[in-house]
Amino acid sequence: MMQRFSHGTCPFTAGTRRTDEPYPGREALRSAGPVVLAEAPAGGPVAIVTTAALARVVLADPRFVKDTAWAPPEWDPRAAELEPTAAQALSLTTTEGAPHAALRRAHAPMLSPRRMRARRGAMRDTARGLLAERGEGPVDLMADFTTRYPLAVVGDLLGVPRAMLDEAVEACRRMFGDEADVAAAMGGFARLAATAMQHEGLARELRERLPADVTDEQVHYLLFTLLFVGQLTTGPALGFVLARVLAEGDGAQRSSTRGEGTGPGGDTAALVDDVLRRDPPAPFTLWRFSAQEVELAGVVLPPRTPVLVDLAGSADDPGAGPGPGLAFGAGPHLCAAVHLARAELVAAVDVLVGDFPDARLAVPAADLRRVDPGGIAGSRLAALPVEGLRPRECSGSS
Ligand code: HEM
Repeated sequence: MMQRFSHGTCPFTAGTRRTDEPYPGREALRSAGPVVLAEAPAGGPVAIVTTAALARVVLADPRFVKDTAWAPPEWDPRAAELEPTAAQALSLTTTEGAPHAALRRAHAPMLSPRRMRARRGAMRDTARGLLAERGEGPVDLMADFTTRYPLAVVGDLLGVPRAMLDEAVEACRRMFGDEADVAAAMGGFARLAATAMQHEGLARELRERLPADVTDEQVHYLLFTLLFVGQLTTGPALGFVLARVLAEGDGAQRSSTRGEGTGPGGDTAALVDDVLRRDPPAPFTLWRFSAQEVELAGVVLPPRTPVLVDLAGSADDPGAGPGPGLAFGAGPHLCAAVHLARAELVAAVDVLVGDFPDARLAVPAADLRRVDPGGIAGSRLAALPVEGLRPRECSGSS
């Protein structure tokens, strides 16, 4: 039977709350059982998996597929935040089985831990440069930096010229507009991808790794996914991570809290994982659909039932695992860029702490607010006002 949630506890509610205030629907969801049938944002039932142990089972179960061709036909793709079907666009996120494994193999060497370690210095330079450009402030880091930095990092990796960074920012912004905006944004991403493929970088490397029958247009879509998804997730995460560090106080307080000699990436990696676990930028997985009748914890799901995993709600379960827990998903669709995302977040924190010793919140930490956009999207800080954003060499501090 479909679970009725009282007003304000629907798992897809939009709203604004304090940063330490739990999402209103989360507790109601968890207490309703390991599999909860709720009303989907686009209508009809959705089965939501709320425990980490069952999440890991579902995320590895080939009876659940991500091809949106299996979505309820009556769903409005925009209202449901659906991607194109696997037949419409070749994508890591919607293919399964052997074609999916082949795509993962093509991406994996480019995003390996070794490659990402080698990029740490470049990521720090990017963070330093973009923060210094903002001026001393007060400046709202959510207004600009948290969009530009992930796009610059991924763009640099792929071979997108820095001169096109503004175009990338604009394309991301337009993805949230109307149909014409989205079409314009996709045109912008295609231009970025085509340009990247003419330069040295991973875009060209990906093209070379993929079978020759994959068209350039299809490669453009794969590159769009990396740019857009990379920003969509890392941007909000950056807000929460930087807010946590800035709430530790000014430069001197921060160094005493964080301890001497913890060097770049040291305890920062643990802090980043902890923030991701508590505030996963993707609180739910993307949509999955049962490809046949499946019984899950005593609940029978007919074929084509939409399924979500509550990644945020299962964070405290022992089965969530160490570090970031289930923030990056699990199973064959585990985030393809785990090492990139963590390295990128660690680099930004290390730069803020090490190179901007006077940076501090321009408002009390208790005044920060997070916005839940509703649907399956994650929350983000409404604003992150920072002042004293002076690079070390100009600040007189040592
Ligand atoms: C903190 C940052 C990030 C988080 C928390 C995150 C989280 C996730 C999650 C939960 C999934 C699985 C969704 C599902 O199973 O339905 C996923 C998949 C994916 N992510 Fe990330 N992600 C992050 C950063 C990135 C970045 C930076 C990129 C690219 C540059 C990226 C690219 C992808 C891709 C391509 C997939 C699809 C993988 C597949 O289906 O095989 N992610 N991510």
